[in-house]
Amino acid sequence: MPPVIEVDHASQSFKTRRGLIHALRDVSVSLDAGEVLCVVGESGSGKTTLGKMIAGLRRPTAGRVLFEGRDIWTSSREEFARYRKAVQIVHQDPYASLNPVQRVRDILAAPLERHRITSGRSTLSRIREILTQVDLTPPDDFLDKYPHQLSGGQRQRVSIARALTLSPRVIVADEAVSMVDTSIRVSLLNTLLRLREELGVAFLFITHDLGIAKYFGWSGSTAVMYLGRVVERAPTRDLIAEPHHPYTRALLSAIPEPDPVLTRAKEKLLLRSLEIPSLLRLPPGCAFHPRCPLFEAGLCDTEVPALTPLPGRRELACHVVLRELTRSGSVTLDGGSESAARAAARGPDLVATTREEGVASSAGQRVEASLSVGDEEGKGGDGSGGHGVGR
Ligand SMILES: Nc1ncnc2c1ncn2[C@@H]1O[C@H](COP(=O)(O)OP(=O)(O)OP(=O)(O)O)[C@@H](O)[C@H]1O
Ligand code: SF4
Ligand SMILES: [Mg+2]
Repeated sequence: MPPVIEVDHASQSFKTRRGLIHALRDVSVSLDAGEVLCVVGESGSGKTTLGKMIAGLRRPTAGRVLFEGRDIWTSSREEFARYRKAVQIVHQDPYASLNPVQRVRDILAAPLERHRITSGRSTLSRIREILTQVDLTPPDDFLDKYPHQLSGGQRQRVSIARALTLSPRVIVADEAVSMVDTSIRVSLLNTLLRLREELGVAFLFITHDLGIAKYFGWSGSTAVMYLGRVVERAPTRDLIAEPHHPYTRALLSAIPEPDPVLTRAKEKLLLRSLEIPSLLRLPPGCAFHPRCPLFEAGLCDTEVPALTPLPGRRELACHVVLRELTRSGSVTLDGGSESAARAAARGPDLVATTREEGVASSAGQRVEASLSVGDEEGKGGDGSGGHGVGR
């Protein structure tokens, strides 16, 4: 059976007055029925662009998006309409996405009646059912409310309810919990997890916060994006337990731990720069190289590392870590990896630039340094701004 959604080597560029922005470059991800895929990365890494592409709101400039194995952009009108119903998006800001002059009952009735799913009295009973599913109970208390009469969390629940009216197979949740108070974030996440279990709906869950991905996607997988590319993908628990990519390791070390002992024990990765390069002037080779503590000149700044499949349903795009994994024997790559082979041909061992010790580190080891910019290292970013890891 094909995945419900498959993004196949898709790219998305935007023409702007300042030049061409390559927001997504050669991205391939897929979602099976009921699966959770979290997408994490800093601002501007292309998460929303990917979400919109999966929801059919943006056509890729290259590559394909497949729904149940068929290219949505070459499918018939009927098939496209069926796909658009099956994949619903929940945006970050429910206030902006809900019509302020409609009551909750009208907001939810519109898609039900437009798509002839229900009519008359059955519409009202279906609305009550959906409000209950999203924990807006008793439902009659909410039917006649306007969005401004609801709290942020309740508004987001109405957005989720609206997505559910069409019984979707996939929900793209784009920073869906980041605008609600921390105190109700967990309960909203739990509602979404319950919906996934009860309804078997798959989630593309977009967040800039790896801590939230860890909570929501624990039984699913997580893709880490950097400047328009997926740099690592793995089952979430494996990604958290053993992150391979230096960028994932930096993101992980930025998650605050409630336990101070754990905080001290946690890997601290020394980035060479906190500046995110501009998408208009991407660095050659690996786009992470101006910031990467494992950077090797002549390799990382010349060749783009390919996203390479690893055992355990993992994928990784890093010359140096792939080389170390193959050398240490922890990974045998089917048919060999171009990236690792290129790195191996070059020879030198992985050396992590660390402030305290300058220790050699293999991919399986922890790099001991502090998550701050190495002032002795060159600052590679071109100063486009954006918020850096750990700031
Ligand atoms: N319609 C557009 N026109 C021009 N540039 C765009 C457009 N949409 C997105 N971009 C650019 O593409 C890049 C990726 O944007 P995107 O919104 O996908 O990132 P993101 O990872 O969702 O970031 P954030 O965490 O801030 O939401 C950004 O540099 C953004 O400015
Ligand atoms: S390819 Fe090189 S620069 Fe890129 S993440 Fe790996 S070690 Fe760092
Ligand atoms: Mg976004």
